[in-house]
Amino acid sequence: MARAAKDAVHHPVFARFYAKLSVSAEPRIGPVRDELLAGLSGRVIEVGAGNGLNFARYPSTVAEVVAIEPERSLRQLARDSALRAEVPVDVVPGAAEALPVKSEAFDAAVVSLVLCSVRDVGRALSEVRRVLRPGGELRFFEHGRGGGSAMRTAQRALDRTVWPLLFGGCHVSRDPVGAIRAAGFEVEEVRELLMPETGPRLPTSYCVVGRALRPGPGDAGN
Ligand SMILES: C[S@@+](CC[C@H](N)C(=O)[O-])C[C@H]1O[C@@H](n2cnc3c(N)ncnc32)[C@H](O)[C@@H]1O
Repeated sequence: MARAAKDAVHHPVFARFYAKLSVSAEPRIGPVRDELLAGLSGRVIEVGAGNGLNFARYPSTVAEVVAIEPERSLRQLARDSALRAEVPVDVVPGAAEALPVKSEAFDAAVVSLVLCSVRDVGRALSEVRRVLRPGGELRFFEHGRGGGSAMRTAQRALDRTVWPLLFGGCHVSRDPVGAIRAAGFEVEEVRELLMPETGPRLPTSYCVVGRALRPGPGDAGN
């Protein structure tokens, strides 16, 4: 118990489930990860890296990735993935709401399928903004609210009841792009997509992939 209490996030059952599910979903999700990471360079922080499925997909223009992962067993799997990456990846414990790094230390930040799970989205994004240099870039691939009114009602009901309990704190009715804007980022590009692209719509199907900037010096809102 004492060991578990030290971790900011402790969802061992979900972590085992996610480690298997995420690998089996890679044929579909992998191309979106490539789109998420294309063109990145310099120092990158990845928040909530899970089992590290992005690591092997970082372009060689990235000098270093600092990957934050609060869940112990996923962090161990991420360390294994880091060994197979072409760019240096340092996996460290920590939570999005209090990133254990200096301010303005990164050229880019990456969140993928994480804003659904953090306890406090506003605080997490304000931390991401703090650690990015002015003009730095946030890349995001997230799921959130979507579909017609019946789906949105179902998403809200699931968030109030079983979904976060079953899926490691995940929520399905959040608005990631709205939250990114509210945190003071300028959203430069967003592409909406369905996951899976065909077949029945799931509460997690409504995804966005895109990029946003921390305003630079002299820009309004910096
Ligand atoms: C659905 S998984 C996504 C993992 C990975 N980013 C990916 O793309 O496969 C959600 C991740 O968010 C992490 N997470 C949950 N709460 C967090 C928090 N407060 N701060 C940082 N990461 C968190 C979980 O431990 C898990 O690794």
